[in-house]
Amino acid sequence: MKIKVRHIFSLLCLAFLMFSLSIYVYPLKKLKAQEFNKVSAVEGRLVWQKYNCQCCHQLYGLGGYLGPDLTNEYSKFQGNEDILKALFKGGMKQMPAFNLSKTEENFLIEFLKQTDASGNANPRNYSIHKNGMIEQNERK
Ligand code: HEC
Repeated sequence: MKIKVRHIFSLLCLAFLMFSLSIYVYPLKKLKAQEFNKVSAVEGRLVWQKYNCQCCHQLYGLGGYLGPDLTNEYSKFQGNEDILKALFKGGMKQMPAFNLSKTEENFLIEFLKQTDASGNANPRNYSIHKNGMIEQNERK
């Protein structure tokens, strides 16, 4: 049987489609079910926007650079919400003291909790595998 160019072309198309599919399916298999109060987290995002935390802080490395990246702020303090609340209202150096209501504080914490679980801001916490996938290292 003579191999025609269109056979090779079809084979390459098929390989491309299968590889693309595997790339999309792979993260879905890895995603773990996470427990969040989604409504509070969304409200927390509105608090984040209302007080413009983004102008001085980054999430996933994006935002202002006056203050530190807060993507993994929640796990930095092992989820100790009292410390976070104290930091919100403390005011230190260029960080203004925010007089947030109790509800706003809790929403904001839920938002930071969800952000923390969704990714890791430090590129050093990622490894490149032989198959080309870039994956977050296991958290300790
Ligand atoms: C005008 C700039 C500015 C704004 C606006 C701002 N921050 Fe900050 N924030 C800072 C700076 C600067 C620091 C670091 C202070 C230090 O090093 O003592 C900081 C520190 C923090 C920290 C402690 C970080 C750590 O791990 O040490 C938290 C938490 C925080 N900010 C939360 C917030 C939240 C939430 C908002 C919005 C409600 C906000 N910040 C708005 C400037 C700002």
